Amino acid sequence: MIIYEGKDYQDVSRKAANIMSAQIIMKPNAVLGLATGSTPVGMYKQLIEWYKKGDLDFSQITSVNLDEYKGLSGDNDQSYRYFMNMNLFDHVNIDKTRTYVPNGLEEDSDKACADYNEVIRNVGGIDMQLLGIGGNGHIGFNEPGEAFEKETHCVDLTESTIKANARFFESMDEVPKQAYTMGIKNIMAAKKILLVATGSAKADALYKSLYGPITPNVPASILQLHQDVTVVADEDALSLIK
Ligand code: F6R
Repeated sequence: MIIYEGKDYQDVSRKAANIMSAQIIMKPNAVLGLATGSTPVGMYKQLIEWYKKGDLDFSQITSVNLDEYKGLSGDNDQSYRYFMNMNLFDHVNIDKTRTYVPNGLEEDSDKACADYNEVIRNVGGIDMQLLGIGGNGHIGFNEPGEAFEKETHCVDLTESTIKANARFFESMDEVPKQAYTMGIKNIMAAKKILLVATGSAKADALYKSLYGPITPNVPASILQLHQDVTVVADEDALSLIK
C-alpha cells in the first residue's frame, strides 16, 4: 500500500487526478470504477482541466460507478447518474453509452444487481477503482456489518441517511429508502484501488481501515488484503496515522 499525503483538498485532488491520469494514459481503454460524494469533485475538475488542455483522452474509456439510489431516474438531480454527468461525463469526450451506473429505475432488485454484475464482467473487470470513505469506514454503500463476499446488492438506507437526504426532496415519500451498490467482492476484484480522503471526520475511519483489525465492522479494512492500493489523503485525514 502506498500512502501519499496532500497539503489540503486541492492538493489531494490534484495528486489523485495524477494517478487516475496515469491509468488513462497507460491504458487508453481502461475500465475506471468511479465514485460520487464530495471527495472526488476536485479530482474530476482537475481531470476535466487536463482534458481541455489536450492532455487526456476519454474516448476509449469505460466507467462503472459504485452505486445508485433505487427509485431515482438519471434525470433526478439527486441521482448518482446525474452527479456523474454534471461533474465529469458532460465535460469530457467519454462515450456515455460506455458509462455504467446501477439502474435505479429497475424495481426488481435481484435483476438490477445481477445485471450490474454482468456489466462489470462484460467490460472485463475494473482496472482502477476510485473510493471515498465514510466516517464509519463504509465504501460504496457497504455499511458496517456487510458481508465481505457480497457482489452488487440492494441496501436499506439507515434512518439517519434518509433524514439527511430529506432536505433535497419535496416530501419524505420521494426520499430513496434503498440503494444498489457494488459489494466488497466487486471492489476487491479491481486490479488497482485509489482511496481518497480529506478532513478530520475521516481520520478515525482511515486509521482503523489501514491499521486496525480486518473486520466487516469497518468495511474499508478489507483493503489491507488488496495487493495494489494507493491512498491519497490530507494531513487531517492522516492525523492518527503518523
Ligand atoms: C459514493 C460512495 C460513498 C462515498 C462516501 C464518502 O459513490 O459510494 O461511499 O464515497 O460516503 O463520501 P464523501 O466523499 O461525500 O465524504
